[in-house]
This record gives sequence, structure tokens and C-alpha cells, in this order.
Amino acid sequence: MDKQFKRTLVTCALPYANGPIHIGHLAGVYVPADIYVRYLRMRGREVLYVCGSDEHGVPITIKARQQGCSPQDIVDRYHGIIKDSFEGLGIHFDIYGRTSSEVHARTSSGFFRKLYDEGKFITKESEQYYDPEAKTFLADRYIVGTCPKCGNEGAYGDQCEKCGSTLSPEELINPKSKLSGAAPVKKKTTHWYLPLQDYEPWLREWILEGHTEWRSNVYGQVKSWLDGGLQPRAVTRDLDWGVPVPVEGAEGKVLYVWFDAPIGYISNTKELLPDSWEKWWKSPDTRLVHFIGKDNIVFHCIIFPSMLKAYGDGFILPDNVPANEFLNLEGDKISTSRGWAVWAHEYLRDFPGKEDVLRYVLTANAPETKDNDFSWKDFQQRNNSELVAIFGNFVNRAMVLTHKYFGGKVPACGPLEDIDKEVLAEIPALKASMEKNIEGFKFREALKDAMGIARVGNKYISDTEPWKVAKTDLERTATILNLSLQICADLAIAFEPFTPFAAKRLREMLGSPLDWEILGRPQLLPAGHQLGEAQLLFAKIEDDVIDVQLARLDAIRAEREAAAKAEAAKQVAPQKDECTFDEFEKMDIRTATVLEAERVPKTDKLLKLTIDTGIDRRVIVSGIAEYYSPEAMVGKQICILANLKPRTIRGIESHGMILMAKQGDGSMRFITPEEAVCNGAQVG
Ligand code: MF3
Ligand code: ZN
Repeated sequence: MDKQFKRTLVTCALPYANGPIHIGHLAGVYVPADIYVRYLRMRGREVLYVCGSDEHGVPITIKARQQGCSPQDIVDRYHGIIKDSFEGLGIHFDIYGRTSSEVHARTSSGFFRKLYDEGKFITKESEQYYDPEAKTFLADRYIVGTCPKCGNEGAYGDQCEKCGSTLSPEELINPKSKLSGAAPVKKKTTHWYLPLQDYEPWLREWILEGHTEWRSNVYGQVKSWLDGGLQPRAVTRDLDWGVPVPVEGAEGKVLYVWFDAPIGYISNTKELLPDSWEKWWKSPDTRLVHFIGKDNIVFHCIIFPSMLKAYGDGFILPDNVPANEFLNLEGDKISTSRGWAVWAHEYLRDFPGKEDVLRYVLTANAPETKDNDFSWKDFQQRNNSELVAIFGNFVNRAMVLTHKYFGGKVPACGPLEDIDKEVLAEIPALKASMEKNIEGFKFREALKDAMGIARVGNKYISDTEPWKVAKTDLERTATILNLSLQICADLAIAFEPFTPFAAKRLREMLGSPLDWEILGRPQLLPAGHQLGEAQLLFAKIEDDVIDVQLARLDAIRAEREAAAKAEAAKQVAPQKDECTFDEFEKMDIRTATVLEAERVPKTDKLLKLTIDTGIDRRVIVSGIAEYYSPEAMVGKQICILANLKPRTIRGIESHGMILMAKQGDGSMRFITPEEAVCNGAQVG
């Protein structure tokens, strides 16, 4: 860590208060930030840890409309759920504020006003889509219609999710407002824009030249934005939910959510520290670090910094922006709308006392350099074979044996053997590696280091077998357990950032201190020191618990597949080329009745049908076995193309073809006269 900073301001992306948070949010932003903050605090650094709900934006107004309540009701509900989830997981911000607060309205509005007064904005008139019924302008994705490329009826004004084409609302066939269903109309409107292109040279110098140490995913995204050329960015919207634009003639306009939300970091600091907030935002001694997900990079590395630069007045800029990639769930993209997620509040309900396990697994699997996957089997496995079998098992053996042989008092350390010295030497090396990794935002690696200490301890106690040594040499047993307990005390420090609940319980059991600097020092626990009761730090997770979670996801997957199939079934093929009446007349289509039916051996699709056509009895081989059993066909009246040239299929001569109605998903139903008629009746 650079020595020039006196304090660190850590911010976490403000989650939208339009839904609960899930493991993707946690792995991407909040767990890593929490590790970082706990680590800095343990080292005695001055840290401020700021977050809060992002309570503006169109999606919140949509949700309110859908649920027939006010946007304020929505944000009140989710603000509460999200705040409780963080607390439940041991993520304790110094402040968890809200952008619907009064302080925020004043701060963000004042911010805009200063830039406005200083001529830092440009205004532009443009035509935008407007919903005449809902009386509101529409963001592109609130316009739906038919995709001109693939015919999907649910394409959005910015993209068709079916065929992946990028669209503009003009291209949609039959565009409709998602709000009211009305056809949108174009309407003129004026907005304020921040001319980002003016800040480009400065951004290049500051980031591309000055921050080559940033993560490559962050640096790369910034570079490609800058290389692509920056455009003026609208900072206002026509909407009735948000911070009103503090300018005359701007009625019905609010600050764009991405303009006001990052200012939320500042307002929340102000709310907490009305008299001393400036030292956190305007002192070059403060190091600002933004924890975010990759979809937030442009806002935190380009737009917000440009806003701060435009504002001036001593505002500091982020020193680092360790953005993570995305976490998938069981191989699929997490999707709030499809319910494909593990929600924090549900996890806390379903796994009480296992807060650490989630923190541990999300860190071990953190999407730091690439997208990563969360799976319940991996979750179970990491709990059982890492937390329980290594960390927990080691601590338990050291504790139980000390109680057994030494009445729970730390025994004295005697002369050290080679194995003891080797083990003791490993810990400072792991500690140094942890420091380097945490300070370099490599939390997965840092967790491996911490787990390395537990592995060292677990191996040491297995190799030295104090339970056997105790039969002949209690003095040597004392040394082994003394060293083992010292390692337990190290673990209670090393795991504080990752699994704070277990680390705290361990410190309580040991009566050991929390101070990073003493990790790895000899004799953390003095001989004769009385230990508490031995308690298990982690418990095994059984299959049935995991199966419940998997069954829930399976049900969602099945529902989604059924919906996709139903959707596919509805797809209709375009009309074929014209044909003449004569051409049609050539086809001898008539009714017939199925007399016998059997499966064609060694095929899944084919039935051999013997039918009465009114003119003869014949055999037709038909590919309908996936949809009809032989029994279901016997006695049915069907329509056939009688004069189709015979074909041999699987060694059976087939005379004609059964007429089937085929749907977009390939499923088929035979065609039958509305009422029974004689066999051989002509269809046409
Ligand atoms: N609400 C945004 C999201 O979830 C993040 C806002 S971060 C802030 O993607 F900086 F704008 F606050
Ligand atoms: Zn399409």
C-alpha cells in the first residue's frame, strides 16, 4: 500500500432498491470490499466504508406501476431487505444511506447547479419516444415490438434478445409502450449533457498513463471507451421520479440516475459526518477505492470522474477501481427477472449460522479475472472438505487435546525440533503473501494463503500425532499443542476478513487478540493461559440440504424450458411460393381409418400403420411415434396423401403419407374430419 495516504475511503456500488441482492452482487462487490475493509481496520488504518441504496431510475417506476404502489413504497421495501442482508452477512458499512434522502437531494441538486452555473453542460433538443397514455417519455427498452430481423414479437427498442440484433425503436414493427400498450409517438425534448469528449485527453493521461496498475479488465474497458471516442452524455431525463433538475423551465425533468447515484457516495458520507465529510472527499491524503461490478466500469472510471473534475473544488478521484467480472449460477447467467439467482435474504433464512460459508465460497470462486460459476455441489464440497475438514478439524483437534491432557491450559513450549521450526517458518511467509494479495485486490489468492495456514496446522498435527506421543512423552505433547494453539490464534486473525463469524468465535474460544501485526509471532498465547470450551467452528452440510436448493433451481429451469417450448411452438413458417389449382388437384387427399399400428423395430420415431383407404388396405410408415403410441392410433380416422409415390422405409414399403399439423417446436397432430365420414372421402 502506498504510504502517502493517511486514510482510505471505500465505496461499494449502491445497489438498486428494486429487488433483493443475490450472490452475484455479493461476489462481485460487497464480499471483496468487506474483506478489504476488515483487513485495513485490523491493521489499524483509518477507513470509511460507504454504501447505500440507489433509489432512482426507470426500473423502479416500472415496478411500482406493475405492483400498483408508489416508487417510494418499492424503495422502502427493498432498502430494508438489502440493508438486513448486508448486516446478516457481517457486512457493516459505516453508513448505508439512500438516494431518496433529503441530504442527497440537496447534494446532488447542488452539484448539478454548480456545473450548470459554470457553463459545464451543453443543452440539446432531440426527438424522443413518448407514451401519450402514460404521459411519459420512454427509454428504448420500454418500447417493445416485432423484430424486423427474426419476427420475435417481444423485441426491445434497443435489442432483440431472440436473435441478438441491436435495434433502434424506429426499426421495430408495431412498436408499443411497455407501460400502457399505446403506440409511442415522437416528441421534442431538451436535455443537459456533459461533454465527455472534452475530458478525454485528461482521462487518458490520468488513467491510461497514470494507472497502469489497475486491473486489466478495468484498464482495457476504459481504453476501449476512450479509443472509441467519447460523446456528450445526457445527465437529465424526462421522468417524475428522481431529483428534480434545479433549473427554471425544467419542470418534469429529473437528474439521470447515473448522474445522481455516484454523488450518493458523497451525500451518504455527509449524512454520516456532516462536519468532517470533506476530509474524506477533498484531501489528497485520502485514498478512494470504488468496489463495483464490470457493468459499472464506465460510470466509475469515466463519467463520475469527469463530473468530479468538472466540479473541481478539491474533490479526489479514485485511486483504484477493482471491478469484478460476473458470477454465474449452475452454468447459467444470473437473471433477476427469471428468478435464476440465490438471494441473500433467502440464503440467510435457509442457512442460519452459515454466513461464513457463503462468504468463503464466493471468495474462493470470486470472478476476479473472468466470469465464474457458483454451484451448490461446489458450495457443499468447499464447506465439507475445506472449512470443516481442514480449518475446523485442525482447531478442534488442538482444542480437544489441550483440554484432555492439560485441562484446557496452554501448555509450555519445550525445545523445538526441525518439524516445529519448519512449520513456524511457513506462517510469516503466508502472512506476507496475504498482505500483498489483499492490497493488490487478489482476494482469492489471499484466501488461499489463509487456508494455507490452516493446512500447515492440520498437517503438523497429523504428522506429529500428539495423541500418540501423549502415551509416552507429555512434554513433547505440550510443545506440539502449544505450537498448534499458536497457529489457531494466527488463524483467528488471518480469517477475520473472510469468515468473520468463525474468526470471532475462535478468538473467544482461545481468548486471543485481533491484531494483524502479531500474526505469526511466536507465543501469541502465553503458557498457562486458560482456553474456553472447544466448540465446532463449522458443521458438515449434508446432501439433503443441497438437494432442496437444487430442486428449487430445477423447477425454475423446467418452467423456463416449458415457456421456451411453448414460445417455439407458436412460431409459424412463412407462406410458401404460389401454386396453381391444377398443381393442387394432382394430389389425391382422402380420409382413411387406422386398422393396425405397431412400432417399427429399432426406431424411436416410426409407426407402421395398416389403414383402410376406402379403395384398399395398405401400409403407411409415419414418423409420429414421438407423439402417438400405436394403441392411440388404432381406430382413428385420419387424412392421407394417397397418391404419393411409394417409398421403402426401413425395409417396409410405405404407400402414401399421413397429413399432420406441425408446430414450430416440431410437435405434430394428425388431421381428422370434424365428424366421422366414410373412408376414401376426397379432401380438397
Ligand atoms: N445501482 C447501480 C447498479 O446496481 C450501481 C450504482 S453505483 C453508483 O448497477 F455509483 F452510481 F452509486
Ligand atoms: Zn430478432
